[in-house]
Amino acid sequence: PNPERDRLLQAYEWTAKFYHFLLKNTEHGKAAMDYLRSRGFNDKAIDQFQIGYAPDRWDTLVQFLTKRSFDLAEMEKGGLLSKRSDGEDYLDRFRGRVIFPISERNGKVIAFAGRVLGDGQPKYLNSPESKLFNKSRILYNLHLAKPSIRKLRQIVLFEGYGDVISAWEAGVQNGVATMGTSLTESHAAMMKTMADEVVVCYDGDRAGQAAAMKTIPLLEGVGLRVKIAVINEGLDPDEFIKKNGGDRFKRQIIDGAVSTTKFKLIYLKKNHILLEEDGKIAYTKEVLPIIAALPSSTEREVYLKELATELELSFESLKQDCNELRQAMLKNT
Ligand code: UTP
Ligand code: MN
Ligand code: MN
Ligand code: MN
Ligand code: MN
Repeated sequence: PNPERDRLLQAYEWTAKFYHFLLKNTEHGKAAMDYLRSRGFNDKAIDQFQIGYAPDRWDTLVQFLTKRSFDLAEMEKGGLLSKRSDGEDYLDRFRGRVIFPISERNGKVIAFAGRVLGDGQPKYLNSPESKLFNKSRILYNLHLAKPSIRKLRQIVLFEGYGDVISAWEAGVQNGVATMGTSLTESHAAMMKTMADEVVVCYDGDRAGQAAAMKTIPLLEGVGLRVKIAVINEGLDPDEFIKKNGGDRFKRQIIDGAVSTTKFKLIYLKKNHILLEEDGKIAYTKEVLPIIAALPSSTEREVYLKELATELELSFESLKQDCNELRQAMLKNT
C-alpha cells in the first residue's frame, strides 16, 4: 500500500474530470472549445479522450484541491501545481491550456499534457517525470488501444496526441504515441508482449522521418516485424487525415506501409542527386550494405532489381558488388 501514490492518483482522476467539465460547460472553456473545433476534433473524441481545459488563472486548481483537503505540497511534487518562485504559495501548473490526460495501461490518469491555444512556447507543457509518470515507459492511449492491439496483434505507432485521436476517429484504434521522447527499449519490450507487428507512422517532416529510422533497430531488436507508413508533403498523420479523410489514410498510408528496407532506400535517396554520376555511386555505396545484410537471397534480388531499374544500372553488376560485400560481411562476423 502506498497512500501518497493513491492520493495523487485520486487527484489526477478528479482534476481530469474537472478540466473536462470546465471545457465543455463553462465560459472559461469556450475559446478552447473553439480551438478544438477549428482543428476538427468533435464532441465524441473530446469525451472519449477526456480532453479538458485548464483556465488561464492562477488558482483554479489550487482552490479545487484545497476544498477537497489535498496537501498542496504533495500536489506540487506530483506535478499538478507549481510553487511561486518568491514564496511559499502554490499556483496552478497548467494555465490557459487544452489538457490531454495521459493514462497508464489500466486506465488510471497519471499525467497531463497541456497544449497552448494556437502558437506559444512551449507548445506542450507536460507533467514532470515522477514515480507515477515515466515517459520512457508510457505510451499514450495504450489503455484504449489494448483490445484492438490484442485482436490484430499489431500496433500503429504515432508521435503525438492529435495523431492518435484522429486515427482513432478514422477507425485505426490500435494507435499509441511516444509523446515527443524517442522510443525506448522498454517501450519496444512492452509492445512485443502484445503484438507481432508495428507500423511506424511518424510525421512526414524531416525530424519525423529521422525518428522513424531510429525506431527500426529498437523494434526489430525485440523481434517485432516492422513496417513504415510514409506521409508525403511534410504533413503529420493528423493533418493528413483532416486534409484527405480517414479512408484515404487507412488505404494509402497504413495499408501502403513499406518494408524497413524499402524505407531506408527511400530515406537515404533524399541525400543524393541521382541524375549525377557521383550521386548514383554514393547512393549505391550507402544502400548496398543494407541489401547485402538481408538474410534471404530472394529479398536481396527484389531490392537489387528495383535499384538497377531506378539507377539505370545493370542488375548483374549490382549483384556482383552486393555478393562481394556480403562475403566480406560474413567473414568479419
Ligand atoms: P509535434 O511537434 O509533431 O506536435 O510533436 P503535434 O503532435 O503535431 O502537435 P499539434 O498537432 O501541433 O498539436 C510530437 C509530440 O511531441 C511532444 C508531444 O507529445 C507531441 O504530440 N511534444 C512536442 C512535447 O512534449 N512538447 C512540445 O513542446 C512539443
Ligand atoms: Mn513532429
Ligand atoms: Mn506532429
Ligand atoms: Mn508539428
Ligand atoms: Mn500535429
